[in-house]
Parts: sequence; structure tokens; C-alpha cells
Amino acid sequence: MDEKKLIFSAIQPTGTFTLGNYIGAVRNWSSLQEKFDCIYCIADMHAITVRQEPAKLRQHSLESYALLMACGIDPQKSILFIQSHADTHACLNWILCCNTQFGELSRMTQFKDKSQRHPDDINAGLFTYPSLMAADILAYNADMVPVGVDQKQHLELARNIAQRFNQHYGEFFKVPKPYITEVGAKIMSLQDPTKKMSKSDDNPNACILILDDKDTIIRKFRRAVTDSDTLVAYREGKDGINNLMSIYSAVTGKNYDEIENEFAGKGYGDFKTAVGEAVADHLEPVRTEFAKLMADRAYLKQCYSDGARRAMKISSKIVSKAYHKVGFVDRA
Ligand code: TYM
Repeated sequence: MDEKKLIFSAIQPTGTFTLGNYIGAVRNWSSLQEKFDCIYCIADMHAITVRQEPAKLRQHSLESYALLMACGIDPQKSILFIQSHADTHACLNWILCCNTQFGELSRMTQFKDKSQRHPDDINAGLFTYPSLMAADILAYNADMVPVGVDQKQHLELARNIAQRFNQHYGEFFKVPKPYITEVGAKIMSLQDPTKKMSKSDDNPNACILILDDKDTIIRKFRRAVTDSDTLVAYREGKDGINNLMSIYSAVTGKNYDEIENEFAGKGYGDFKTAVGEAVADHLEPVRTEFAKLMADRAYLKQCYSDGARRAMKISSKIVSKAYHKVGFVDRA
């Protein structure tokens, strides 16, 4: 009988998730639970590669945890935990750092972007971030990693690190595959559709946060930058409209032809309002569930403690074996 494939993914708790995080990653995480064994985590250790206020990071980590549950990640079906609660990630990270080349890390576009944005804090953690990400995945021997397009380069490096380790020490790690959906793998900024939608954008209208209220969501979509044409159609050069169409498609399940027909003869104004309403209605249950979960801290604590225990159970076995492989003396 075929063994169930194992899925691993993670998200940084740097504030509320964006619609990009949701469409590109989180909504797929929840549907994957039905078919696969899934492990998801709040990557708080990754978050401190950029200066964080400790009290805020703690709050955001709890909120992100609750938000994943509100988005449909069921902590009974999946293993849902907070990265820093599983020490195994940091332990394996060291071994993987010793199997990652300076040149490889120097080529990472996220490192280059973030170093530019924070020139006063280009720390070693920011540089070796992809090794920790590889450790997250390899500590569970995950088969597939559902992410948005922006994480593809990191994932390719994780594959290279796994292959290099296997070459040196003998076949051990599974080489993980990216799982990137066709629609919505890169949701763009509403103000500059050539740039990824990101919570670090200075312009608040560029980005939909999944806890934004209905009016705010509709207002941001109505202000979305498009083009001087009037045709709602998915075409080369219509970046703004293409982005809105992929968002509308992701939340309604309609394909591009259906969307084109729906808005034939109508203007961009009608389309933008429709996208705003569809997104707001789609996210409404997430907001309600999030508020409920945040009001029950004892339940949240029980869920993340249990998640960490289950994550440790799997990863500690794999990391112990990796320790042995590299020649560390087995613990008594
Ligand atoms: P993070 O926290 O930046 O983003 C979480 C997920 O959201 C996706 N995403 C997007 N998808 C489509 N359009 C967008 N505009 C958009 N913005 C973000 C990201 O691709 C990601 O899948 N390094 C990771 C977290 C991480 C991780 C891991 C992921 C840590 N360890 C192990 C996978 C496996 C990150 O910073 O994601």
C-alpha cells in the first residue's frame, strides 16, 4: 500500500497574514489536510532574523497560530506548532549550515532584498536563513512543501542541501518537492502590480490583511492600480487586472473565461467592487473564528503544546539519526 505523503510548511508571524499568504499558501494547506499527513508551523525563529519587539513577536505568534486554525488548519488532523518549541530545528540547522556554501547563500534574492531594506542589521541569521528553512523541512523528511513562488529559490537550495548531505553521508534525507499552485502562487501589490503583495509594503493600500474589515477590503480594491483599458480579460501587459482576476478566481473558484464573460461590457469599477466583496465575504468566517479562538487562550495553549510534542516526537528521531550520520557520539 502507498504510504501517505508528508507535507511541511511554515509561515512567519510578522503581523497579520496578507491575502498573498492566504491565497498562495495557507488556503492550500487546509485542503491538503484531507489527503496527506501535514505538519505546519509558525516560524518565529525565522522572524528574528529581522529585529522584532519581543512582546509583539509573542503576541503575533499566538495570533498567527489562531489565524491558521481560523483558516481551517485543524490541530487534530495536522501537526500545528510553534517553531521555537521544537529544539530539533536549531540542532539540525547547525549540521545543514555546515553543508551549505557561502556562495549559495549569497545568491538568495530574499537575502539581498532584506539586506537592502535593513542595511544596519545584516546579521548571520539573515544570511543562513535558508539553512534553517531546510532544517524545518528535512527534520520531518517531508515529501512536499506548499509555498508561494517567492519561496521557490529557498526550496531549491533545501533540495541541494539534502542531496549534498546524502552524497557525503549516505542516502538519508528525502529530497523535498515544492508544491506551487497554478492560480494565486504570486499575488501582487494592489498599488504596483509588478511587485509581490507584502506586509512590509509602506503603502497600506497595497496589501489586503486577512483581518481587514469588509469596508476596508472593498476600499482597497476600489483603489487598486489597473490600466487605461476597460476590458476585464487576462492578457499580457494587464498586470493589475490579471492580479485581480487571479484573486477573484481563487476566492470564487471561477476560471478566467467565466470571469471575462461575467464582466463583459462592464467597467473596471464594477469588477473591482465585485472582487472586494467576494474577498470580504470569503474571509468573513475567518475573522469570526479568529476572534473566538483568541478569546480561549487555554485551548490555544493546549493545541500548540500538543503540536510541539507531536512535532518533537517525529523530528527528534530524524535529527538523532542525522547526528549519528555525521559522526557525533550517540547519547547514552
Ligand atoms: P512567509 O511568512 O513570507 O510567507 C508564508 C507563505 O505565503 C506565501 N506568500 C505568497 N504567496 C503568493 N503571493 C504572495 N504575495 C505571497 N506572499 C507570501 C509564501 O510563499 C509562503 O509560502 N521562509 C518562509 C517561511 C518558512 C517556510 C519554512 C516555508 C520557514 N520555514 C519551511 C516552507 C518550509 C517565509 O518567510 O514565508
